Formats: sequence, C-alpha cells, structure tokens
Amino acid sequence: MNKKVLTMAVAALMGLTTVAGVSAEEVANKDKPLVWFNRQPSNSSTGELDMAALTYNENTYYVGFDANQGAELQGTMVKDYIEANIDSIDRNGDGVIGYVLAIGDIGHNDSIARTRGVRKALGTGVDKDGDIDSDPIGTNTDGTASAVQDGTLEINGTTYTVRELASQEMKNSAGATWDAATAGNAIGTWSSSFGDAIDVVVSNNDGMGMSMFNAWSKDNNVPTFGYDANSDAVAAIAEGYGGTISQHADVQAYLTLRVLRNALDGVDIDTGIGTADDAGNVLSSDVYVYNEEQRSYYALNVAVTADNYQDFTDSTKIYDPVSVQLDESAHPVKKIWLNIYNASDNFLSSTYQPLLQNYDDILNLEVDYIGGDGQTESNITNRLGNPGQYDAFAINMVKTDNAASYTSLLDQ
Ligand code: BGC
Repeated sequence: MNKKVLTMAVAALMGLTTVAGVSAEEVANKDKPLVWFNRQPSNSSTGELDMAALTYNENTYYVGFDANQGAELQGTMVKDYIEANIDSIDRNGDGVIGYVLAIGDIGHNDSIARTRGVRKALGTGVDKDGDIDSDPIGTNTDGTASAVQDGTLEINGTTYTVRELASQEMKNSAGATWDAATAGNAIGTWSSSFGDAIDVVVSNNDGMGMSMFNAWSKDNNVPTFGYDANSDAVAAIAEGYGGTISQHADVQAYLTLRVLRNALDGVDIDTGIGTADDAGNVLSSDVYVYNEEQRSYYALNVAVTADNYQDFTDSTKIYDPVSVQLDESAHPVKKIWLNIYNASDNFLSSTYQPLLQNYDDILNLEVDYIGGDGQTESNITNRLGNPGQYDAFAINMVKTDNAASYTSLLDQ
C-alpha cells in the first residue's frame, strides 16, 4: 500500500472526510477555506472593508448582496408607491407626507445603505462627509432635526412635503440589533403620540417591518415597506404590506457553500458559478456580481410588490439553475462549521438557514449550524473549540469589526 492510499484508508477508518487523501486534520486551520457571509468584515464606523480578513488565506471570500443597488430599489419602491397613491396617502390632510423609519444596526453597511436609499429617494437626506447622513433622528414631528431635512415630491404638478417623523436604531437592552420586538414597541410609542401624521412606515428589514405592521399599520391601513422578502412579509402584501426587496438569498446561500465546495475540490472558483459545473449548475450574470479586488460575491436585488409577489411566496425555495445534486464520488462529503450570528434574526433563521440546509445536501457538505445570541462574539467563538475537525468555515459575525475573534482561533 502506498502512502497516499494508506492515509486515505486510515482517515476512512477514523471517519474523517478526505479529498485526494487529505483529511481535515492534515490541513492547518489557517489554510482551510473560509467564507464570511451576510456581515462583511469592515469598520463599523467608516464602512471601510477589512481587507486583512477578506484575504485571510487564498481561499477566503465574502458572500453578500449589492447593498447600494438594493437600497436604491427600496427607496424607489417607496417613492413610486407614494406617487401612485397620492390621492389617498396623506391621512390627516395636512399636506405633509410623514414616514417613520426602523433602522437595523447603525454600524452595519446594509442598514446604513438602506437608510440612505430611502432618504435619497424621498429627498430627506442631508450631506455628511460627502454621503447621505444615516444617523437616527429620534422624533422630528416639527421638521427641525439636523440629520434629515424636509423633502419635496412633485406629483401631477403639485408639490408635496415629505418628512421623516421619527427613526431609531432597533436595538434591545441586551444589545441585539435589527430587533423586531423593539420595532413593535417603537411604533406603539410613535403612533400614540403622532399616529395620524404617519402615512408610510419604512423598515431596514422585514423582521422589524412585520412587527410594526402587525402591531399597528395593518389595522390602520398604513403601507409598510421592508427588506428581505421573507415568506411572511411576501404573504402580507395581499393584506396591505407595501412591499419588500428580495436580496436573492437563494443565490447567496448557494454561493456561501459553493465557494467552499470549490476550494475543497481544488477547482477554479468560478465552477458552478459563472461556469457550469459537471452537473450543469450555473448562475447567470443578472443575479450576482463578483468583485475580485474585494474577494466578494454580491447577489443582486429585486423589488417585490403587489405586481409580482406571487413569484416570491416561498423564500426558502432553492434557485432552479443551481439545483442539481453533485456526484459524491467526484465531490466527497466534507465537514463545515457555520454560524448564524443571531438565532432569532428573522431573515437569517426563516430564509437564509433553510436555504443553506437545502444546498448543503446538493453540494455534499455536512454542515454544523451554530446559532449565536446576536450580542457577543464569544457566545459563538466558544463553540469553535475544535476547528481541526472541520474542512472549512462559514462565518457570520455579530459585529463587522470582529473578524479577528475568529481568525485568531484558526491561527493557533
Ligand atoms: C438582512 C437583515 C438581517 C441582517 C443580519 C441583513 O442583510 O437584511 O434582515 O437582520 O442582514 O445581519
């Protein structure tokens, strides 16, 4: 028996996974494939990418979606709705179209982009250091807040004022961000003091949006807009939810696992992405972009409104063009450690993780899913006690600055 065959036989006996005779324990952790997803390693104050984390080793990538393209779509969706419904939208007839905004996480690039996108489309943004200010304003019923301004919309020859009446980061007392329950409480507070001035509700995501819709806006017929196209939000469009944005989670979940599969197979990273794999899986260029310099794959977004929501009713359905099972003899089973930063995050738990679970079978990956508490990195890193057992890692940080909390465990 030669050495390679012997290694494979021993590894097989030990129950370890192998490719070309290499077991998880033979590769140094620091050299194993690593994908960051959903929270891009970056400075939470400036947004600057953390290139050290993104280039941790030659098989490191980020998978997310195009935050600016999506944010612009969200802003335009809200503006289009106002224009189409101008005759009935101003509920108290004061000539001011008032909206409230639920902010997810003031240090998260996706959240910042969405706040800016809405303010830009509605004309309520003000400049700060060359970009639209994304700070929450608290309440602004009199229009005097400095982080926003009153916007104007010209519709059918009439000029209307648009005002951001209130906005707040939805963070709970334990520190979890994008917190749906906090948003439900906020709309309660806002509506009891200036409810008749609220004509539109906007949220950085559907988790918070649906919480506000269920707590208040549904009963008061106030259109509410979110982001993510979670199944419950899409279904609510039939009951008056204004609309949402699909960030193509089906494509993102695929890419998250696919880049690991490719690195483990030792094939070109484009396999099954821009180039068909041996099973015929391939993505077309209208659903994602790859930015090589940033080592990042970004899925493209699609607006979901009353016009097209029937096509988006199941957010956990895998994407047809990349749905063919890989052959296990050519793509043997590999073990992946993957964490979700907050097990209670609506989008990640109701949309993203179910999609990952569908794709892991197709890609012959055995994934251990670790759910965090959304508050501290250590709650998650404590459960990466034995990285040597895994072939690759998929990481969703609590805070985008904290990549080193994970890579330091792989360095050892
Ligand atoms: C999603 C949010 C989610 C957040 C978590 C965003 O991309 O739109 O719904 O809470 O990611 O990091």
